Parts: sequence; structure tokens; C-alpha cells
Amino acid sequence: MTPPRRNVEIKARDADPAATLERALALGASDEGVLRQRDTYFGRARGRLKLREEDGGAHLIAYVRPDAGEARTSAYRLADVGDPTAVREALDAALGTLVVVDKRRHLLLYENVRIHLDDVEGLGSFVELEGVAAPDSDLSGEHALVDRLRSELGLSEPVPGSYSDLLLDAPQALLAAADAAMRNAYARYSDFKVGAALRTPSGAIHVGANVENVAYPQGQCAEASAIGALVTAGEREITAVAVVAEKLDVCPPCGGCRQRLSEFAGADTPVYLGRPGGPLQATTLGELLPLAFDESALA
Ligand code: THU
Repeated sequence: MTPPRRNVEIKARDADPAATLERALALGASDEGVLRQRDTYFGRARGRLKLREEDGGAHLIAYVRPDAGEARTSAYRLADVGDPTAVREALDAALGTLVVVDKRRHLLLYENVRIHLDDVEGLGSFVELEGVAAPDSDLSGEHALVDRLRSELGLSEPVPGSYSDLLLDAPQALLAAADAAMRNAYARYSDFKVGAALRTPSGAIHVGANVENVAYPQGQCAEASAIGALVTAGEREITAVAVVAEKLDVCPPCGGCRQRLSEFAGADTPVYLGRPGGPLQATTLGELLPLAFDESALA
């Protein structure tokens, strides 16, 4: 197999994109113009898989990158796509779409570093530095140049994770997934429909609804259904939780589900209770389940 290409990358929020542009041009960066880009991220991928549609072409990009804040190495593979709509629809049918990132990118070049001044829908303004590595590079030169530009452009604290992560971390995406799951609840006896959505480190969202039974104690909560889906998919970690109920603006998870969630989530894991676009109570599992019974008790 051909080895992947590599970049050294860093991303930061940009409070004043016009000033950053001026500074970059003053350093001698060349202005490569503005691109509109739409990235569709697909599920169930090893690493990340996205289709990038932009002015003048489309590419399928598979990449692996640690979620560190500091300058990090990204290893990626790029394939030209001639019929992006067909490819997007086929991948969506096979893998499902995780999230779509729309942005306006002002591209500048400084030696082998791409400077991205990005305006991302739903997230705001960012600046990215991407040091494109030569195939045989030990990456030290790319790191040095990215670090130098970082200080000369006055970048703020680096932001870990991709735009897709930032969008998926937003409570709205999880609440919407929980809300959609809730609509399939089988709540024949209580008539109280609940949906739960669980985010994992892979970026996937696993959902569940409550499933009742005529022998009442056999019923299962939405959170338990979602945990079943997550474990069945081969995952073991929850990074965020959302719960939505049809008849309650803010539905607190039952005690048993707090314990179930704590098997796969930590005290800091955010828990969003509410409705998409509606009321929202953001809490954490630690607040919902203080003094939790965990593995340390058995040690
Ligand atoms: N329920 C959930 O699905 N999750 C909770 O955390 C609270 C309760 C369900 C269980 C039952 O089907 C219905 O709501 C009424 O208790």
C-alpha cells in the first residue's frame, strides 16, 4: 500500500480574522483566494472518512489524527471523486452521515504551510496552520515552521479535535438524535416515550428508546437500549449523553440508568436533558450520581 501523506496541523479560534489576514500577508504569505467547502463525515469509519466538495472538485479523504491541542500529525489519503453526489449518497446509505461541516475558507500559503482563515457554519471563525510534509521528512522542519507562524500570527490557545467534533459535541446534535429515537419508543403501558443518544470517542452517536412489556418489570429504559446499541457496535466509552422525553421538558434519567451510564462514562461526562431547540439542562454524570459505586469499591 502507498504510505499516507502527512501534515503538521494546529487550529485556534480567531477573534479578529481581518487582523490575522493582514498579519499573514505582511509576513509574505500569498493569497490563494476563498473557497466554499462542504465536508460530509461518514459513520463507522476507522479513523475519519469525509467527502470534501469544494469549488472546482471533490475528494474523498480518509485520515487519522490524534485529538491533541498542540501541533499534531495527520496521516491522510486523498482520492479524486468525479461524481460527488452519487458517492455521498452511496456512503450515506452504507455508513450513515455523522455530520456536515460547511465553511468559507480563505487560503494563504507560506512556504509549505497552508494558512486557513475559516468561517465555519455554527461554530464561528478559526485559523488553521497546516504544514504539508515531504514524503521522507522527519517532520521537525514542519513543526518548527508551524510553531514560528503560530507565534508570529499571535494564535490563541489551540483547539483540539476537528470541526466535526466541535459540531457533534454541541448538545443540539445529540438532542436531535435522542428526539428522533424517542419517536420509535414502545411505551404502550406508560405512554411516556423517552429517547437517549450517546456519543463515543469515534464520533458515532448510538441511540435507544424505551421498550415496555405487558409484564411491566421487563420493560427497558431508553438509556439501556442506547447502551445496548453502543456495546453491540463494539464501543465501550460514552463521551456525552442526551435524554429527551415526549411529555417532559427535562427528563432526568432514573437512578438505575445513572448507574448503567456510569459503567461507560465518567463523572465529567456531559449529560444534556431537554429538547432540540427547546429547554436544555446541561449537567454531568457526576452531578447526577455522586458517590457512585464503581470499580474502586471492589478493589
Ligand atoms: N424511562 C426511560 O426510558 N428512561 C428514564 O431514565 C426514565 C424512565 C421510561 C421507562 C418507562 O418505559 C417509562 O419511561 C415510564 O417510566
